[in-house]
Amino acid sequence: MHISNLKIKNKVVTQINIYESDLTFHKHFNELLSNYSSIFILTQESLSDSIINNITMKNAPKIKSFILEDAEKCKSEKQLKEILNFLLINQCNKDSLIVGIGGGSVSDITGFVSSIYMRGIKHILIPTTLLGMVDASIGGKTAINYNNIRNLIGTIKHPDQVLIFLDYLDSLPKSEILNGFSEIIKYALIMDKELFEYIEKNKKNLYPEINKKKLKEIIIKCIIHKVDIVQQDEKDLGHRRILNFGHTAGHALESYLNFQISHGLGVLYGMKVAAKISLELNKITKKQYIRITNLIDSFNIQPLKKINIDKILDFMYYDKKSSHNKINYVILNDIGASTINNNIDVEIIKKGLSSL
Ligand SMILES: NC(=O)c1ccc[n+]([C@@H]2O[C@H](COP(=O)([O-])OP(=O)(O)OC[C@H]3O[C@@H](n4cnc5c(N)ncnc54)[C@H](O)[C@@H]3O)[C@@H](O)[C@H]2O)c1
Repeated sequence: MHISNLKIKNKVVTQINIYESDLTFHKHFNELLSNYSSIFILTQESLSDSIINNITMKNAPKIKSFILEDAEKCKSEKQLKEILNFLLINQCNKDSLIVGIGGGSVSDITGFVSSIYMRGIKHILIPTTLLGMVDASIGGKTAINYNNIRNLIGTIKHPDQVLIFLDYLDSLPKSEILNGFSEIIKYALIMDKELFEYIEKNKKNLYPEINKKKLKEIIIKCIIHKVDIVQQDEKDLGHRRILNFGHTAGHALESYLNFQISHGLGVLYGMKVAAKISLELNKITKKQYIRITNLIDSFNIQPLKKINIDKILDFMYYDKKSSHNKINYVILNDIGASTINNNIDVEIIKKGLSSL
């Protein structure tokens, strides 16, 4: 089913499709094979058995696959070099296609490699995590990490297609589903009150056990929001920054806690901080604040014990989203409406952090 076309300057750059089952997967590959001289798949060990071996064997030698190191580890200089060598040895050229199958880390490295090899080769993405489906595969941001700094080196290059197969959600661990939900709640809070109310009402049927039919509708809504935002601000110079809602404190907490909490959990805490700041600034009411924190806490979020607020603040000021020593903070004006404020008093940010 076709969901949306991402257009930049009125030109379609990405077609986004969603499928309930991966039974159509082979059909897509056969179609792709008729359009490209060869296909290079970049994927993760966690997925290689299920599908990759299958297609690779059936269509060898036109398809070659490379198993990346897992999760964030694949976004390294070392892996980049290895992938470039793999492409070169196997004669990847301008008529080839690169396909990234995996979570957001695979999308990021696949997009990056595709944007630099021979100054750009077509690529498509098949996201296999909830976060990848609703966020990372769309919008063209590519990256690797450098010198322990996340996403320091990257480009903007849109995949030609994003193909979502909901079957991948079946094997996804609960912690990864939670990561995806944190981004879904983010979209609801920054721009979609109806989605917020829907999750509020249906939470018990959505998590921890997922309902793929309901989730499909939510995924589609989030994709349409992401497409809308990227179309307005492809290069992340203004409006797109509202997608950082919850991420400023979230990233700082992740670093402060030595990455002992997941990204999704960090963002959930970060959204609580942002909601508290919005309350302190009288942008939302106490009633709205309670609704927001109740929904976030219903994802089993426990209060944090003994945090050092000054240390977390230090991490916040180091974050790349701080410009001229000011933190660009995304706050709420309402449930479902947000704005960027880069002039928030540090005492109010401290109050936000104290609410954890
Ligand atoms: N480019 C963007 O716009 C953008 C947006 C958000 C996040 N990101 C990036 O995305 C990355 C995080 O992505 P993520 O949360 O998808 O995690 P991930 O890609 O690191 O994957 C998480 C884990 O899930 C496993 N996995 C993936 N699919 C699976 C499946 N179907 N079944 C079982 N296991 C599976 C992976 O092997 C891995 O261990 C970060 O690097 C972040 O910087 C990019």
